[in-house]
Amino acid sequence: KDGSLDFVKQLHMICDLLNSKKSNYDWVGYYFADVSQQTLHLGPFAGEPTEHKIIPFGKGICGQVAERHETFLVEDVNAQDNYIACSINVKSEIVVPLFVNGNNVGQIDIDSHTRNAFEAEDEKLLNQINRLVADKILTDKVDLKTLWV
Ligand code: SME
Repeated sequence: KDGSLDFVKQLHMICDLLNSKKSNYDWVGYYFADVSQQTLHLGPFAGEPTEHKIIPFGKGICGQVAERHETFLVEDVNAQDNYIACSINVKSEIVVPLFVNGNNVGQIDIDSHTRNAFEAEDEKLLNQINRLVADKILTDKVDLKTLWV
């Protein structure tokens, strides 16, 4: 229990650091999958609170990543039909899945107020961070539900 509390703080710190240090990052958060319910649940995040705390698989960019198991880089969110707007200021987005033991258990989601803000370097960085996060989840046997807001 204490361990998962610490871990929530660490994930929050990762989100805060990315949000403050990367000038194009304007919202950074984790979503975790509930495979039995086919839903994503908001975890630690940095930026404006969002009302999209639960997203069904298949809906929006996040929901599509839950089903496709691969990074989704969106240069212009207005050109996407299947998109959930968290803020009218958002212009581009990247969602990178989080794999634990080969299973897609969640994702990191970044919004930007700048169009075309993300490139391959961002995907690389976010994959590296997600690998560290996945290792921690595995070694500490974190119950992902304890990470939901
Ligand atoms: N834009 C996302 C929803 C999550 S908010 O950006 C925090 C989507 O289309 O899935």
